[in-house]
Amino acid sequence: MITIVSPEGSSTTYALKRAIENLGGRCKILLLAEEDLLVDRDFHLECDLIHPRCSIGHYLGRLTLYSWQVLNALECEGYRFINSLKTLYNSSDKFKTIKILSKHKINTPKTALIRDYRDAKRFMERENLDYPVVVKNSFSKCGVSVRKVSSDEELKRYTENALWEGTIIQEYIDFKVGDLYRDIRLLVVGGEVVGGYSRVSRDFITNLYMGGSIRPVEIHEELEELALRCAQAIDGDIVGVDILPSREGYYVIETNAAPGIKGFQYLGIDVDYRIAEFLLRCSKL
Ligand SMILES: Nc1ncnc2c1ncn2[C@@H]1O[C@H](COP(=O)(O)OP(=O)(O)O)[C@@H](O)[C@H]1O
Ligand SMILES: [Mg+2]
Repeated sequence: MITIVSPEGSSTTYALKRAIENLGGRCKILLLAEEDLLVDRDFHLECDLIHPRCSIGHYLGRLTLYSWQVLNALECEGYRFINSLKTLYNSSDKFKTIKILSKHKINTPKTALIRDYRDAKRFMERENLDYPVVVKNSFSKCGVSVRKVSSDEELKRYTENALWEGTIIQEYIDFKVGDLYRDIRLLVVGGEVVGGYSRVSRDFITNLYMGGSIRPVEIHEELEELALRCAQAIDGDIVGVDILPSREGYYVIETNAAPGIKGFQYLGIDVDYRIAEFLLRCSKL
């Protein structure tokens, strides 16, 4: 039995359950927003494997600290987790992701974890960076906290509560081609790249949630190898890798340990079956 743990369910969660069942497996969904749920010290699940589809931190107000606590408590029961909680953390905290990737010699934007405006200015001076720079919350998702900052006044405004909010500052990567921004999302499952697409937008924030649209992308060898190295670096089995292609080469900006499948469904790539097959294989090990 596989249990998918999700804050409140999503099309990805239900598609995965259907795919697991169509392949002959058994699957339950634990919805953390469920009214009748009570997680006490005896709380446990009847399953062989937990597939967490939660991330930590600011995420559209979705029970994130609670999700993290429930998953960590469940870890004491000895279930197998795919992805592991370590991987979930490593890719929920963008600063840690960048640190891990850069330790593995993967190209990332210059980035610093900052306490305030003065840290931000010190970073820009040390790295010899001019405006624009990017300021974002290390734990946020869906593009909601990303700001392109173009002046000292803006930098002051967006770093006001930096110390309490897990704020990071980042080199701005120019990936505009013509009048469109076009980045790359690749999906790795069990050490294989199972698909990818480009997100295209008039704004530099390309997230689908923020209005980016999906286009096919050619996954050549260099991209494939890059995605596999990222998944390996964060020790992830199911990993979305976000890449900004610039004139200077590829920059990896983040990894996602609970990647959505909507973009793949749109292109007719059935990654839900690839993930389901992988989870079923792992649940039998
Ligand atoms: N350093 C950067 N340079 C240029 N664009 C960026 C940078 N960081 C983020 N972006 C844009 O903002 C989007 C969201 O940023 P990301 O770091 O992936 O956060 P989220 O978790 O919210 O998706 C990216 O897909 C990209 O379009
Ligand atoms: Mg992203």
